[in-house]
Amino acid sequence: MALWDGRFSGGPAEEMLRFGESLGTDLQMWREDIAGSKAHSAMLGAVGILGEAEVAEIHRGLDAVGDELAAAEEAGWPKAGPGWTPGIELEDVHMAVETRLHHHVGDVAGKLHTARSRNDQVATDVRLWLRGRIDLLDAELAYLIGILLDRVEQDGRVLVPGCTHLQRGQPVWLGHQILAHAWALSRDRERLADCRKRLNRSPLGAAAMAGTPHPIDRLHSAGLLGFSGVVENAMDAVSARDHVIEAVSACAIAMSHLSRMAEELVIWSTPEFRRVRLSDAWSTGSSIMPQKRNPDAPEIVRGKAGRVFGALQALLTLMKALPLAYNRDMQEDRPPLFDAVGTTRACVRVMAGCWAELTVLPGPDLTGDFLLTTELADHLAANGVPFRQAHHVAGSLVKACEERGQDLSSLTLDELRAAHPAFGDDALAWLEPTAAAERRTSRGGTAWTEVTRQVALLRATL
Ligand code: ARG
Repeated sequence: MALWDGRFSGGPAEEMLRFGESLGTDLQMWREDIAGSKAHSAMLGAVGILGEAEVAEIHRGLDAVGDELAAAEEAGWPKAGPGWTPGIELEDVHMAVETRLHHHVGDVAGKLHTARSRNDQVATDVRLWLRGRIDLLDAELAYLIGILLDRVEQDGRVLVPGCTHLQRGQPVWLGHQILAHAWALSRDRERLADCRKRLNRSPLGAAAMAGTPHPIDRLHSAGLLGFSGVVENAMDAVSARDHVIEAVSACAIAMSHLSRMAEELVIWSTPEFRRVRLSDAWSTGSSIMPQKRNPDAPEIVRGKAGRVFGALQALLTLMKALPLAYNRDMQEDRPPLFDAVGTTRACVRVMAGCWAELTVLPGPDLTGDFLLTTELADHLAANGVPFRQAHHVAGSLVKACEERGQDLSSLTLDELRAAHPAFGDDALAWLEPTAAAERRTSRGGTAWTEVTRQVALLRATL
């Protein structure tokens, strides 16, 4: 028996049931659905629409339904658990819970739906679900950032070539580069916090879209659910999904960060780069080439970024040009939402695992490396030569070295002075790689004091 029986003489086609059900996805939100129903009924009680005993009865029934759903979940959806498992004829989690509530408490269950609609329910459930998942994802990101900071402190004092265009640029502490990733992730946390703030408003009591003649108190149910307020407009309350798009957008941006970090681990674990060795736990072997150690974990993270970007695209397209208010199209928001959030969370955890267990290898010998060329230019500039001119002089020295097949360590002070008289007595000392990194004490530079300052700043956010 459908909830709209009064109007209909026939039931839905079997195929319509299978086509239209969202239960397979939204059953994941059963806790939120029950919490929403409890808050709504408590509010109906508080304003006198329901009697105290009726509210108590409804709550008892909702708890019973919750126990059954917890058992069914434990047993593994969608196979029947020890007790009752909802079937697709119930269409969605809202109908499933209400129908089962009727089984437990009888006709008083029908009073629960006063002054609300499933449109309110789905909007409420998604916000509650998302709020909870954002909190989990935020904690996981904070954990990953903490692991990165540990790495910076333990292994960050390894001098590596900092690259632009993937070409050797200047020597930096590995910790400096790891921190760059950590800062990006800290902005992901800020984005999620912003999104959480905006979505944390209750749509409950919109009553489908127009409000209700019943004397409800939307702020009351909002407060019970931990919302900071209500969505002011009833039509907006049931038809807005920008928080879903925003959350998935934050996930997509986070995935772009994780994919960059993953890509670096892939590159860094090659014999060509030799910066890290991934642990056995986060690598795989080859079925034919016995020597292989493949960086599958970061590769999969890199790949999954595409999946989350796809979810964002799906959601934007889903919502584009939909007329107000609720449209059934909108139930298609949950598969990409759930998948994007679940995927992002999994990737954050996997990256934390990779970083916690990898080995940082000794840095390459950078003595005489052309990536110290900027030092020559900076040395001249410090002695008053215009940087553009200093750059030209340093470039010509590289050219000279290259022509005779040698590196910067082959240069003598006389040769430097022949190229430009402003080279001082200490010029060759500028070509020492560690000193080059340590000279960069400007705010945000690679000097170790700056690295540790940033570690402290980031730690304070965890
Ligand atoms: N199953 C629907 C969804 O997931 C719930 C709301 C249905 N509302 C409606 N008016 N048909 O979006």
